Amino acid sequence: MGRLSQKLCIVTGAGRGIGEAIARAFAEEGARVVVTDKVGDLAASLASDIGGDHLRLDVASEDDWAELAAVWPACDVLVNNAGITGFEESPRPQDPEHAALADWQAVHAVNLDGAFLGCRYGIRAMRANGAGSIINISSRSGLVGIPAAAAYASSKAAVRNHTKSVALYCAGQGLRIRCNSIHPAAILTPMWEPMLGDGPDREDRMAAFVADTPMRRFGTPEEVAAIAVLLASDEAAYMTGAELTIDGGLLAGSAAAPTAD
Ligand SMILES: NC(=O)c1ccc[n+]([C@@H]2O[C@H](COP(=O)([O-])OP(=O)(O)OC[C@H]3O[C@@H](n4cnc5c(N)ncnc54)[C@H](O)[C@@H]3O)[C@@H](O)[C@H]2O)c1
Repeated sequence: MGRLSQKLCIVTGAGRGIGEAIARAFAEEGARVVVTDKVGDLAASLASDIGGDHLRLDVASEDDWAELAAVWPACDVLVNNAGITGFEESPRPQDPEHAALADWQAVHAVNLDGAFLGCRYGIRAMRANGAGSIINISSRSGLVGIPAAAAYASSKAAVRNHTKSVALYCAGQGLRIRCNSIHPAAILTPMWEPMLGDGPDREDRMAAFVADTPMRRFGTPEEVAAIAVLLASDEAAYMTGAELTIDGGLLAGSAAAPTAD
């Protein structure tokens, strides 16, 4: 018996990166997994690999969520993983002084509206059983300010807060539907590739990106997936409204902290 056997688990943005690792880990724990992604081919290919179902789902589209609900009106676990930084298609500035309103809104549409629509679907889909687990992938950027990626940080902070509203709402309704957030930092996924490149200075760039991380390395998608498995499982039955950082110790201290000498 796997830790997630008998559970129907839906993961958004699962075509690659952290979402893919979560879908794989869920399947390894015996879950029936529905792989969803805005890029339908990615979802289909992973589903065929792990023996799950798949659906093309853009988390910012209310119609797409309605389509998911029509096929899977009930589920046990939902991971709101899909997210964008805003730099994927546009190199335009994302700082508070120069960001365009359209770029600000585009990031919030996916990261925040997507998580809101997901949580709403999740509550409705878990209400029949009166139990379930909603896992929102926020970020360490949801806990601190990020001047160069202000929309991303704002959207992830809102996801953190909405997680707690959902948790309290469900508990208040007498439901055993739990909602928790995971806050990763510097996890080596395809999201980082444009910044790292494949030239001779790749290793130097990687080292520079984790220079402030106490453990001095990137995390792996599998390490995030392990936390998602715990939150999805009945082992975490008393955890709701919680936020778990997985960041190599980054948020444990402060760069401004005085040194011993
Ligand atoms: N990688 C990190 O260092 C890191 C750190 C903190 C938080 N996160 C968060 O983890 C989550 C996954 O990040 P990742 O690094 O695996 O990213 P990634 O870019 O490698 O993968 C994201 C996946 O989401 C899909 N996607 C994008 N927009 C979508 C939409 N509108 N609807 C549905 N799917 C969509 C993409 O097609 C892709 O398959 C994101 O929410 C991200 O903000 C990542």
